[in-house]
Amino acid sequence: MKVVTTPAEIQMLAGQYRSKGLIIGLVPTMGWFHEGHLSLMREARKKADKVIVSLFVNPMQFGPAEDLDSYPYDLDRDCKLAEEIGVDLLYAPAKGVMYPQKFATTVHVEGLTSGLCGESRPGHFDGVTTVVAKLFNQTLPHFAVFGEKDFQQLAVIRQMVADLDFPIEIIGHPIVREDSGLAMSSRNTYLKDNEMAAAHSLSKGIELAKTLVKNNRGISVQQLIERVSEDVTSHRKCDIDYIEIVDKNTLDPCKQVSVDSVLVMAVKINGRIRLIDNSILIAC
Ligand code: PAF
Repeated sequence: MKVVTTPAEIQMLAGQYRSKGLIIGLVPTMGWFHEGHLSLMREARKKADKVIVSLFVNPMQFGPAEDLDSYPYDLDRDCKLAEEIGVDLLYAPAKGVMYPQKFATTVHVEGLTSGLCGESRPGHFDGVTTVVAKLFNQTLPHFAVFGEKDFQQLAVIRQMVADLDFPIEIIGHPIVREDSGLAMSSRNTYLKDNEMAAAHSLSKGIELAKTLVKNNRGISVQQLIERVSEDVTSHRKCDIDYIEIVDKNTLDPCKQVSVDSVLVMAVKINGRIRLIDNSILIAC
């Protein structure tokens, strides 16, 4: 596996692949790989001739009081893991090459970015869409694979790709969970033993909601949100950022539960660790 650190080099290599007619699959990441990332890479490996994984802890998508400085990072560890999957190129640019001093452009998607994580993390999605647009132009992929855990992010990226005519297929990949149900996340590494029960309340809340819907198809959205919220806040270390039931395509709040409804949630554990999770409520 080759490690590349500059836009010029990755663009040149990607251009060479393309001129040979090879299919390029991109997996954009911020590193500290876990099974969730590795499953995205395996998915890309199945479909691509050349798999590029980008690893860049993007400062533009972190707010001033967020965890940019403590975000876990270990390039050697991640290189080994990516190599084992058969990744061809690991692209790990430095902050200065991604955002040189005169950098002055922001990609902004209206609408989809305003609620949920967009409300509690102002500017976050502008950081995501700007860096993803840059990564697309640098790595020239035919397709890119994103995890469905970041449900809103995936919807925002699909919108950007459609609006800006990127000739790139966006593939969403299902959430990978620990045996306990906890959705895998690089931020799980911050959790202490005595915070695990609180962290599990997200997936438990999702299971509760699914059971309630299964047993009572007529249950209202409000009742569901109340029951899940009660369950989550029964852990004193949990502060709900949001728990909502939204349409899977528009992210608009659902008036009633249907096959298109997704429960989305963000919960702060012990005031320090913000975790997100989501699930479709009715399996097709
Ligand atoms: O999902 C992530 O890890 C990041 O938001 C992404 C898409 C790599 C952009 O920095």
